[in-house]
Amino acid sequence: MIPPSAIPPADDIDRIMAVMEVAFDPAFGEAWNRRQVEDALLLGPCRMALIGADGAPPGEGQPAAGFALLRTMFDEEELLLFAVDPRWRRRGLGAALLGQVIAGARARGCTRMVLEMREGNSAEHLYIAFGFIPVGRRPKYYRSSTGQLLDAVTFACPLI
Ligand SMILES: CC(C)(COP(=O)(O)OP(=O)(O)OC[C@H]1O[C@@H](n2cnc3c(N)ncnc32)[C@H](O)[C@@H]1OP(=O)(O)O)[C@@H](O)C(=O)NCCC(=O)NCCS
Repeated sequence: MIPPSAIPPADDIDRIMAVMEVAFDPAFGEAWNRRQVEDALLLGPCRMALIGADGAPPGEGQPAAGFALLRTMFDEEELLLFAVDPRWRRRGLGAALLGQVIAGARARGCTRMVLEMREGNSAEHLYIAFGFIPVGRRPKYYRSSTGQLLDAVTFACPLI
């Protein structure tokens, strides 16, 4: 896990962007561009986590199969972005990565993890399995490329 305020190595950003480009449904514009990722990691209390296809952090020159971007605010950790390359889904990598970032947040003394999700995203099944519960809703927050409006659902998971 890269600590906050560290300059992220360029190849780690490359690994994130390679997953980013294939993981998010383009209809909803949820993927970040490289500048957004770099700025978050450089300027904010943000950190990242990578997982390789074998479930371990990718070694030098190895691609990532999934990544998480997180922001720590006092005792709360926000899961900003979380994705697994579609080629490697439903093999437990998302669960492994989520377990790792929850353990990391807990170890740093965070008492709660929060995230926001487009309603109907199948990631909900994974979040609920880890103890996240819906705590808020922003009506019509997402607009698809076809004009469909969908709510954003905020989930929270107690860490203590
Ligand atoms: C959400 C995501 C990270 C899950 O990654 P993954 O590696 O496939 O997850 P796992 O294989 O660890 O799944 C663990 C469990 O979560 C649930 N789950 C995961 N994806 C699911 C899906 N599409 N439908 C239903 N349940 C699902 C299942 O219970 C699954 O266990 P099972 O495969 O034994 O049934 C991945 O689907 C993804 O990158 N989605 C696009 C990006 C995104 O929307 N991120 C979340 C933004 S809030």
